[in-house]
Amino acid sequence: MKKNTLFMQDIITADQFSRQDIDFILYVAKKMERIVKKSGSTTMLKGNMMAALFYEPSSRTFGSFVAAMQRLGGMVVPVLGMNNSSVAKGETLPDTMRAFASYCDVIVLRHPEVGSAKLAAEFSDPPVINAGDGIDEHPTQALLDFYTICNHFSGIKGLTVSIVGDLLNGRTVHSLCHLLSLYPGAIINLISPQMLSLPKSSIAQLTKRGVTTHEMEKLDEVIGKTDILYVTRVQKERFSDLKLYEKLKHYYVISSPVVKRMKKTAIIMHPLPRVGEITTDVDIDSRAVYMREQMRNGLYVRMAVLALILKKEV
Ligand code: NCD
Repeated sequence: MKKNTLFMQDIITADQFSRQDIDFILYVAKKMERIVKKSGSTTMLKGNMMAALFYEPSSRTFGSFVAAMQRLGGMVVPVLGMNNSSVAKGETLPDTMRAFASYCDVIVLRHPEVGSAKLAAEFSDPPVINAGDGIDEHPTQALLDFYTICNHFSGIKGLTVSIVGDLLNGRTVHSLCHLLSLYPGAIINLISPQMLSLPKSSIAQLTKRGVTTHEMEKLDEVIGKTDILYVTRVQKERFSDLKLYEKLKHYYVISSPVVKRMKKTAIIMHPLPRVGEITTDVDIDSRAVYMREQMRNGLYVRMAVLALILKKEV
């Protein structure tokens, strides 16, 4: 029996995981996938309650966390948008956390401020799961992205991962880079306009741990060598200058002619939502996994994370 190091733990950053943690989460996610496909649900978390507090918009993260808890037999307090909560009256995050912490066993939080999940965890006895804190991190998205990658390739060694788009503001990228940094042997191409490049701290971590990175502006140079193309949206909500956003939003557009140049064995990923950076004609390409398994994997991975946090033995 492997040791469950997630039991009663907060999940704040993807940097908190070891390779063993990740192996274990992915192993449990596979079990969850089998359960859902065979029976749809289980009673594993019967009697447990999850609050989902989303201060920012969400479809997949919110929907899959709620679905995950319910498929595990648990209950949910879903709050999508805090406009009708006491937040609209000026309540602080610590006070809101204290309230939901007194009703629930685990709290999933999405909030526009960097560091909010860490702060929230200080005011909550029940574990807090960071579902996105501003531009910083989105650790469960990285886990589901990694699960998707592992379902297609046996190991990361020797693979070329090309991450394209808003690498400065894309929190899913920051979390994914933490995970990838644990697996030296991959080549990571970081493709963005210069003003949206990956924070230097992320590059330093990758380099220090032996992962080769190349920063560039043109996708052209690497598209034919790429095994995993990870496309991201330019994060409009992080721009104060909307004219600049308009200029950058379609800096990269992945369309059929671009995909034609890719390896037959490659996969195309996107955390979603997309707003034009992948054209819809790409969706039917068998290499495009974003609208199919990547999204679906969010359910299995979040079931695994919830089960591991709330049950010592899964
Ligand atoms: C991402 C997010 O919210 O960071 N969405 C998601 O959770 N799948 C990516 C994005 O909004 O661009």
